[in-house]
Amino acid sequence: MRIRTETPADRPAALAVTEAAFAPRASGDRPVEAVLLEQLWVSPAYLPALSLVAEDDGGTLCGYVLTTRAHIGHVPSLGLGPIGVLPARQGQGVGRLLLEESIARAAGLGESSLVLLGSPAFYGRFGFVRADALGVNPPEPAWGADFMIRSLNDAGLPTGNFRYAPPFEAL
Ligand SMILES: CC(C)(COP(=O)(O)OP(=O)(O)OC[C@H]1O[C@@H](n2cnc3c(N)ncnc32)[C@H](O)[C@@H]1OP(=O)(O)O)[C@@H](O)C(=O)NCCC(=O)NCCS
Repeated sequence: MRIRTETPADRPAALAVTEAAFAPRASGDRPVEAVLLEQLWVSPAYLPALSLVAEDDGGTLCGYVLTTRAHIGHVPSLGLGPIGVLPARQGQGVGRLLLEESIARAAGLGESSLVLLGSPAFYGRFGFVRADALGVNPPEPAWGADFMIRSLNDAGLPTGNFRYAPPFEAL
């Protein structure tokens, strides 16, 4: 399995992976995460170096993650997601590889923090902790423990209201 920066040619497969990973079980509706991807790709918040694909030895795109510019108050931060792995390839470490590379690259770029919404049981393994306990407030108070942050350096985290890239707000 190889993690690499996405290219424009990857986008149809990245959409397909995201649609499969987030497919609603009961309806045929397109997952909102796929719509979100299309909007983020054309947003000023898009960061090419933090848009990653997982590709297997046969060249099949198995996973995709996008991290985009966000803010804590007026301080730049990052929002990770959507992240998705093909259902048939879940539970085999692909998500771990995508997360670890996202964290390493963001830190290497000098970014200070990475934020996401997800399961503490999974993301806690990668150093993410509940954000509101550190003074970083989610856009939706109800997100509670699922709204998590990871510091990327030794400086203290800023505090304030977290804002994802604008396309998230339309969800
Ligand atoms: C979440 C996701 C990206 C993880 O990728 P993955 O390749 O399956 O993850 P890995 O194989 O690296 O890690 C698997 C471990 O994470 C756990 N895990 C995966 N998704 C989880 C979730 N939503 N909640 C809790 N634990 C989860 C698995 O139980 C497994 O635990 P184990 O190692 O103790 O067996 C993938 O499962 C996926 O695409 N899910 C559907 C879309 C989704 O929910 N995306 C995330 C929204 S925040």
